[in-house]
Amino acid sequence: MVVVDFGAQYAQLIARRIRQARVYSAIVRHDAGVEAILALEPKGIVLSGGPASVYAESAPAVDPAVYELGVPVLGICYGAQLMASQLGGTVARTAQGEYGRTPLEVTDPGAVGSLLADWPTASGPVGVWMSHADAVTEVPEGFAVAGSAPGAPVAAFGDSARRLYGVQFHPEVAHTERGQELLERFLFDVCGALPTWTHTNIIEQGVAEVRAQVGSGRVLCALSGGVDSAVAAALVHRAVGDQLTCVFVDTGLMRAGEGEQVEETFRRQFQVDLVHVKAADRFFGVLEGVTDPEVKRKAIGETFIRIFEEVARDVDSARFLVQGTLYPDVVESGTADAANIKSHHNVGGLPEDMDLDLVEPLRLLFKDEVRAVGQELGLPEEIVWRQPFPGPGLAVRIVGEVTPERAAVLRAADAIVLDEVRRAGLYQELWQSFAVLLAVRTVGVMGDGRTYAHPIVIRAVTSDDAMTADWARLPYELVERISSRIVNEVEGVNRVALDVTSKPPGTIEWE
Ligand code: XMP
Repeated sequence: MVVVDFGAQYAQLIARRIRQARVYSAIVRHDAGVEAILALEPKGIVLSGGPASVYAESAPAVDPAVYELGVPVLGICYGAQLMASQLGGTVARTAQGEYGRTPLEVTDPGAVGSLLADWPTASGPVGVWMSHADAVTEVPEGFAVAGSAPGAPVAAFGDSARRLYGVQFHPEVAHTERGQELLERFLFDVCGALPTWTHTNIIEQGVAEVRAQVGSGRVLCALSGGVDSAVAAALVHRAVGDQLTCVFVDTGLMRAGEGEQVEETFRRQFQVDLVHVKAADRFFGVLEGVTDPEVKRKAIGETFIRIFEEVARDVDSARFLVQGTLYPDVVESGTADAANIKSHHNVGGLPEDMDLDLVEPLRLLFKDEVRAVGQELGLPEEIVWRQPFPGPGLAVRIVGEVTPERAAVLRAADAIVLDEVRRAGLYQELWQSFAVLLAVRTVGVMGDGRTYAHPIVIRAVTSDDAMTADWARLPYELVERISSRIVNEVEGVNRVALDVTSKPPGTIEWE
């Protein structure tokens, strides 16, 4: 299936829902052109929602030739309005728009093929989720109206002969009852798609592609300890076995137990050729006296690259480099050209002048698919479900100078945060939860004595994509357990604070 993107995050959610129905979906920009769409050999096309109004001067549009391809098209929200207006219907600005859940009155389900078959239920109208200011008021010739809602006289419409359909509501959001069912009816009944995008097939296809790309060449992969590089490495290993060499650079700035986990999983379980570089001294050396966050990042990035280059030189004739690039990065870069991926997402920003071809076995996958693939490849839960961790590691959570002693204090406090969050069953729900070590000192009293030591801040956030985040409302009992354990178990800490800042205006990390 092809999902045409009209902006915001709607297209990605639709693409994920389609894949949850085990049908492969690809996102294309609205101005990609009909040839680009046809090149993907779609069984169907979905026009996504978007923030624009079809009246706006630079309103994004798709080439109207898509309606003539004989391929079924489903327009959603903005996509439905665009379809209506491009084919001769009328779209009008409604008085106050409609946002949130609203009842859909189905008057003529047959107008949209089987999409609304069995709706209306005995219990009355079905709740659907709307978010729009404009609405279709008159359908184009050949179309019929299937249903309406309070702010949308034409909430669903279609032309079954041409297999063109539109819905004003968002079937892809969880708040729309039976939304997934509607999408699946479009995929299977209308488009005749087959549910073949299974995790087993994803792996088989990935393995075949990697083999075709690398042949008998040597492949390098930098493991960060995180889920993306781990799954990418496991997949490439399945494809080319001992042609793969993994490099794990222990910067001394990793979370507790991360190095051991990488050793256990990759060297012992998968028997991967693993180069484990213990480089903590080198990193602490370049960080000596450095307090500026950007200087820290740069120093760590450069040291990482230098070490990686040294290892790569030792691995004779390596020609390929594995990167754990994911589909959202590819979509957001606006092109399938991986060179545009933000360096942020690379493992420490790998060398550009190394003349290695990139192998990106996850570039078509969403994060939830990466996790499922990782699980199927036999990676342990701790890696598959690991919360994201910044390339510069604990250094950006140590305000002020980064020393081995301060890193040890933070690591110990961080392990307590993670341990208690896991015990409370919240680890997977939270985007990130961690400890931050501050450079100030505060007075405390312990036993009979006065203390003068550093505070730890607990940072826990919920988020979908790290672009925005909300501070997590951790239960007070959990906060209390974390606080008393840190103060009692971690020497050098006498106070614990909780960060209650969302992003924006804060960032997730402290530096
Ligand atoms: P901020 O702090 O900008 O972080 O809200 C957003 C997300 O990105 C992660 N992060 C990084 N990841 N290299 C990385 O690979 C970095 O330099 C870096 N800085 C922040 C952060 O953990 C959060 O998930």
